[in-house]
Amino acid sequence: MKRRIFVKLGILSSISTSLYAKEKNSVRFYKTFSQALLIPPLAQYNVLKDGTKEFNLNLQEGEVSFLQGAKTKTYGINGNFLGPTIKVEKNDTLKINVKNSLKEESVIHWHGLHLEGHNDGGPNRSIKKNTSWSTTFKIQQRAATYWYHPHTHEKTGAQTYKGLAGLFIIEDEDSKKANLPKEYGIDDIPLIIQDRRFDKNANFVYKYSMHDEMMGVKGKVFLVNGVNAPYVDVSPKTIRLRILNGSNARFYSLVFSNIQDFYQIAGDASFLEKPLKIKKLLLAPGERAEILVDLSTLKNTSIYLGDSLSNKALIKINIKNENKQNFILPSRLTTIHEYSNIRKEKALRIRNFSLDMRMMWMGINGKQMDMSYINEKIILGETEIWRIKNNNEMPHPFHIHGCSFKVLSRNNKGIFPNETALKDTVVVYGEETLDLLVQFNYKASKEYPFMYHCHILEHEDAGMMGQFTVEEA
Ligand code: C2O
Ligand code: CU
Ligand code: CU
Repeated sequence: MKRRIFVKLGILSSISTSLYAKEKNSVRFYKTFSQALLIPPLAQYNVLKDGTKEFNLNLQEGEVSFLQGAKTKTYGINGNFLGPTIKVEKNDTLKINVKNSLKEESVIHWHGLHLEGHNDGGPNRSIKKNTSWSTTFKIQQRAATYWYHPHTHEKTGAQTYKGLAGLFIIEDEDSKKANLPKEYGIDDIPLIIQDRRFDKNANFVYKYSMHDEMMGVKGKVFLVNGVNAPYVDVSPKTIRLRILNGSNARFYSLVFSNIQDFYQIAGDASFLEKPLKIKKLLLAPGERAEILVDLSTLKNTSIYLGDSLSNKALIKINIKNENKQNFILPSRLTTIHEYSNIRKEKALRIRNFSLDMRMMWMGINGKQMDMSYINEKIILGETEIWRIKNNNEMPHPFHIHGCSFKVLSRNNKGIFPNETALKDTVVVYGEETLDLLVQFNYKASKEYPFMYHCHILEHEDAGMMGQFTVEEA
């Protein structure tokens, strides 16, 4: 196992500087690892009389020089590509005004957030062009790294690909008191990892074949926070990386070029109770993780964070020539009390979902997403087991709105050690059955229902999605 990682990493470091070298045309890649990592700005807000934090998000068209000598047409939020990071605290009340300045309908969904259906953006809450939508809700959940992205009917993939996505960071008592790197962009660094495909003129090439439709759109060019092969300068200390797989369809297995250990401290929707030592981190589309990486002994050197599935380096980390700073790893980060007193046998209902894929067709439980059809009706506050069965070979990241769940078992056996945090997106591998323990504490009506779906955005758009209401008994 160790050896295999090593072999893969050997390739990774040897190709890291020649990756994107060859290109005809006047359009070419920038010299690899010559451009600084961009850090998404923190979203500014107004404080209203009652203390509500008011944010303004503008969905707009833009242009970015991802490649040298050309501009790519993009979408962005308050900018050309991606959006600002919304950073808030538990118990904050937010008002978010979303203005759609695009030439098509769109809508923004708060991925992982606990809120009522009418406050969330789903396909049923389309914002027509040149109109706005305001939503007000209270943050009532754990510290973690969440995100926002479009959820437009049959266009989620295309609009996310063009650049609509941003991070949503929540802090709480645990995260504030924990001894962790906390300086945004300095030692607490967000990394939105995406892959793209470009044509000769540097235009994004989205879906064009049946293969894209079935397998999801994957590109060979990697962007981190919207920059191809960037570098970042950090101090010789322990840094925290908040990583979002914001890709439409690509999975990553993240490793460092020096094969060093690191600690995962958080999953999608909570801290892990204790830091978990790992060497590689698998992230499927929609999933997030926070990790701590000890760089204190590496001053005046560089390492790469790469993907061992594609054997490509994603970002170069330059460790400055400064005195090293020691760090004491917290032994405990939180206690996950959710679901702890619910035994599996006590769950009120087992709800079965089968992820179905046939020739040119995909859906869940034999049905395709239909905006006028409510697939499941859930009772507010009840705990259920959602049993997700993958009937094909391809892994699907399964996501549920309006909740955080606990992964109970994989094929009736144990789960991965990093799945003990609360989650909202989980990979169901080929021919696998997963049990999730889930409670719904936020209402959703049939006008604005919640969704569950595969987070490969082409699968979602093709109908591997369903709707559910949450109502009092
Ligand atoms: Cu991140 Cu319904 O999605
Ligand atoms: Cu979501
Ligand atoms: Cu899928």
